[in-house]
Amino acid sequence: MGEISIRRAAASDFDFFYSIKCDADNIYWSGHTSPPSRENLVGFFSSGIQNPDIHTKRTIFIVEEQPNNNRVGYLYFDPVKGGSAEISIAIMQEFSGRGYGRQAVRTLCDMAFGLGFNKITAMVREDNLRSQRMFRHAGFETTGLFTFQFIDNLNKEVKMLEFKKVRQV
Ligand SMILES: CC(C)(COP(=O)(O)OP(=O)(O)OC[C@H]1O[C@@H](n2cnc3c(N)ncnc32)[C@H](O)[C@@H]1OP(=O)(O)O)[C@@H](O)C(=O)NCCC(=O)NCCS
Repeated sequence: MGEISIRRAAASDFDFFYSIKCDADNIYWSGHTSPPSRENLVGFFSSGIQNPDIHTKRTIFIVEEQPNNNRVGYLYFDPVKGGSAEISIAIMQEFSGRGYGRQAVRTLCDMAFGLGFNKITAMVREDNLRSQRMFRHAGFETTGLFTFQFIDNLNKEVKMLEFKKVRQV
């Protein structure tokens, strides 16, 4: 299994971010039917990279394959109240299944726990078995809580399962 590292996203990562957003896998599991508009993503990406304090609002991270710093994915880190944060991840289709997702999630959780967060959650579609497997490999478990989200490309609501990982003391 190769090694990965994570770092905060920078303005120069936008083209990569947009390309992964156009990945067929990413489009499908985001519930869309077509690639996003580049213009719409620019503002969203900019606000995710201009946040000086991870405790206050969304921070976007880039996942890089080592030792070459080859960009393979991104992570969102969204702080919520009470020392918790919610995360989301995508790994490029061609690099999927190499254990990069679980390594990236583990690395981000360790970093967040080191910064004082005590609980990390993720909402995962009930039908996204690959993502569920990846989160379990990264030390997450289901909480039993769920929501429903309307998924455009299925034209129906899908159950979103809450997964969590807590800081070990
Ligand atoms: C979900 C995602 C982040 C996983 O990243 P990854 O680097 O492939 O994850 P890992 O390699 O660490 O683990 C994937 C696991 O799922 C398994 N898997 C692959 N395809 C699968 C499938 N169709 N059904 C069930 N498990 C599957 C892999 O075999 C692996 O498990 P194993 O090591 O026990 O064999 C990545 O595939 C992705 O970005 N998908 C599109 C966007 C997405 O779904 N994001 C998650 C939103 S919650």
